Amino acid sequence: KPAVVVLISGSGSNLQALIDQSLCGALDIEIKAVISNKADAYGLERAKNAGIPTHFISHKDFDSRESFDGALKFLIEQYTPNLVVLAGFMRILTEEFTRSYEGKMLNIHPSLLPKFKGLDTHKRAIEAGESEHGVSVHFVSAELDAGAVIIQARTNVETHDTPESLAKKVHALEHKIYPLSVSWFAQKRITYNAGKAFLDNIELPETGVT
Ligand code: GAR
Repeated sequence: KPAVVVLISGSGSNLQALIDQSLCGALDIEIKAVISNKADAYGLERAKNAGIPTHFISHKDFDSRESFDGALKFLIEQYTPNLVVLAGFMRILTEEFTRSYEGKMLNIHPSLLPKFKGLDTHKRAIEAGESEHGVSVHFVSAELDAGAVIIQARTNVETHDTPESLAKKVHALEHKIYPLSVSWFAQKRITYNAGKAFLDNIELPETGVT
């Protein structure tokens, strides 16, 4: 089974979706470790409950972005992963780090990229008067939230939507498309070449997913 290391900073509901899908056999991977840069990330509990090794590494213990990323890489490499999955990992990574995992690191971002890179995406989508919002899974490249997109799922923005209600709808989409993307990667049906993502023989699951 492909070895996967998951990086988190928070609640870890996407991690939970990956754990659940692998337990039920829909996702054929082995989550070797979960690493958080926040000590109190609830995702660490989720990992422990699933018997997955966990690590906490704080950027505050390092004097530069480079040294933190170096230590993070050292930790990840102990598990020789085929894939690194960013699941709500809220730290910007150095170019060198992203280059080490080029084509082997996925991220999920709560917007229809290239719209709304960065933070507070739900609030910004509402403020911009968008009629549609959603989530993107993409390969990680050096530029923040700019790597090749693999799949997006969309939802309508209704007039009564708040950042919270929109986040809820987007989360439900995330929990569907992230395990799906990881399973495609595990089956070598998504590949990466020269900064582009290639999808092989993939049938998209439902409308609203592109
Ligand atoms: C998710 O909505 C994910 O898309 C977002 O953080 C949340 C993590 O939730 N990621 C980013 O904003 C990355 N820049 P989770 O901890 O419950 O999986």
